[in-house]
Amino acid sequence: MCGIVGAVAKRNIVSMLVNGLLRLEYRGYDSAGLVVVHDAKLERVRSAGRVAELATKSANTYGELGIAHTRWATHGVPSERNAHPHMSRDLIAVVHNGIIENYEELRTELTAQGYEFTSDTDTEVIAHLIHSHYAQGSLLVATQMALSQLVGAYAIGVVAADNPHQLIAARKGSPLLLGVGVGEHFVASDMSALLQVTKNVVYLEEGDVVEVNLANYRIFDQQGNAVQRAVHVSELDNDSVELGEYQHYMQKEIHEQPQALANTLESVCNSQSLVPGIFGAEANTIFPQVESILILACGTSNHSGQVAKYWLEEIAGIPCNVEIASEYRYRVSVPNPKILVVTISQSGETADTLAALIHAKATGHAFTLAICNVPESAIIRQSKLRLLTRAGPEIGVASTKAFTTQLAALFLLTLVMAKLRGRLNADREQQFLHELRHLPAAVQKVLALEPKIAEMAKHFANKHHALFLGRGMHFPIAAEGALKLKEISYIHAEAYPAGELKHGPLALVDADMPVVSVAPNDTLLEKLKSNLQEVKARGGELFVFADAQTHIKESDGVHILQMPEHAGFLSPILHTIPLQLLAYYVALEKGTDVDKPRNLAKSVTVE
Ligand code: F6R
Repeated sequence: MCGIVGAVAKRNIVSMLVNGLLRLEYRGYDSAGLVVVHDAKLERVRSAGRVAELATKSANTYGELGIAHTRWATHGVPSERNAHPHMSRDLIAVVHNGIIENYEELRTELTAQGYEFTSDTDTEVIAHLIHSHYAQGSLLVATQMALSQLVGAYAIGVVAADNPHQLIAARKGSPLLLGVGVGEHFVASDMSALLQVTKNVVYLEEGDVVEVNLANYRIFDQQGNAVQRAVHVSELDNDSVELGEYQHYMQKEIHEQPQALANTLESVCNSQSLVPGIFGAEANTIFPQVESILILACGTSNHSGQVAKYWLEEIAGIPCNVEIASEYRYRVSVPNPKILVVTISQSGETADTLAALIHAKATGHAFTLAICNVPESAIIRQSKLRLLTRAGPEIGVASTKAFTTQLAALFLLTLVMAKLRGRLNADREQQFLHELRHLPAAVQKVLALEPKIAEMAKHFANKHHALFLGRGMHFPIAAEGALKLKEISYIHAEAYPAGELKHGPLALVDADMPVVSVAPNDTLLEKLKSNLQEVKARGGELFVFADAQTHIKESDGVHILQMPEHAGFLSPILHTIPLQLLAYYVALEKGTDVDKPRNLAKSVTVE
């Protein structure tokens, strides 16, 4: 989704703004722009294409104060005229993430006041509103007055042509950070844009407005009171957002999974037993009261929740429901204060998941746990309990290491719940801890299959559709494989629990329909084998990811990828890896933009 970078310094900040936007490219965008204040004028450069084009266009631009933006179109087509920053009468410039819901009404009022609109965006009303108040006060006051008229979500950056050393920024419903330098300050919607200049960061809170100057800054809360916010030192380093030896971030992130899992499991694997405290101190009092679990998440994160349902019910014996966050928030459900509401989110900023959490709390759910990859994100801050996945920044739009680390975190939740409910004796606990310690090495072994998967991918390059099959806790893994394939290769892919095939989808099977099957050596194997026979008998081409000892043989129309031995309950994590690699290599064959698939954004901060 949209990205913001801003800076005030005693040096030319254009390259910093452009580099910051490059760091935000992964979030998804379709146009980019920047504005600097120079010689009491606003100098704006915009491009309907990539940030690289903006870099070329702004190569000779100079400014010590500026704001920049990558736009993911919501109101108005992707074009240069709709690209941010938006300006009012050459005096005020604004960049904005989020959606202003009452923009039509404001636009009508502002037009009546004589303001001329040059874009189709909702953002332009903010620029004109600030302009309309500017004559009566400072840029800070004018911005605060304008914000009080807005309904909706925003993170904004504002500069004025006649105010060469000051930037105003604000957030409500969209993330924004303040970067603290020495004699210079920055704002950005994402830490990765700031790492080039500082690791010292202030996470602005809901409703905060900040006046950013060269030497200092002042933060005001929603009521306009001056407030102090803690300065954090980010744990991220610049290398963690570099591509290094890899061709794409997705490939890099697939290969980072052993380390990401080791980091996520570090504290647990170094200890001798599992305790609720890993989810926060209050877990000791909350978890024993929990009667059932409700998981809310979107997309890939929802798939990890679906796997967890199998674990939680089978290992911990606790009822679990998994809902698509965007559906849950709008349906009438039956609240129960004894439910633990678990939100799962890589970014911690997904609007649907955040809104679902807020809705759950409003209906009386006080027990909330976030499983999230971004500390200080909105979802973390809205939740009582938390477990951070420590996957590191995920830049590729298609989620990979965030997913497998979510699974690891959910497995820990399962074990802690099982222990509290008397379903995990000491031997079993030690056995699971041993398996978790071994998990990174087991994932590494699966990654070694990469060349074989790259070969397999060639069969998919000319196909238009694919079916993915799985059973039990591997059905959500098949769904995740289908999602990965469709989002980065644009091949239509659907997943079915293999037993459902004969109830309809079998009609689709012919020689042009590759059928990918996740075939672990578990209790459902014989059933799955029968389902695969049904496909083979109809001339379908099978791609089977089979554990050792399944005895499924390669034959005409049946391609086998031999997986390592079955990994018990952790098998879904291992079976995810080849499906990620398959999608990646099919996308390479098709020449799509792997890290930035069309129409998609990394952090979906709008509804
Ligand atoms: C797919 C993908 C998305 C996200 C979804 C939720 O590869 O990444 O489906 O999983 O948009 O995002 P988070 O996890 O940030 O809440």
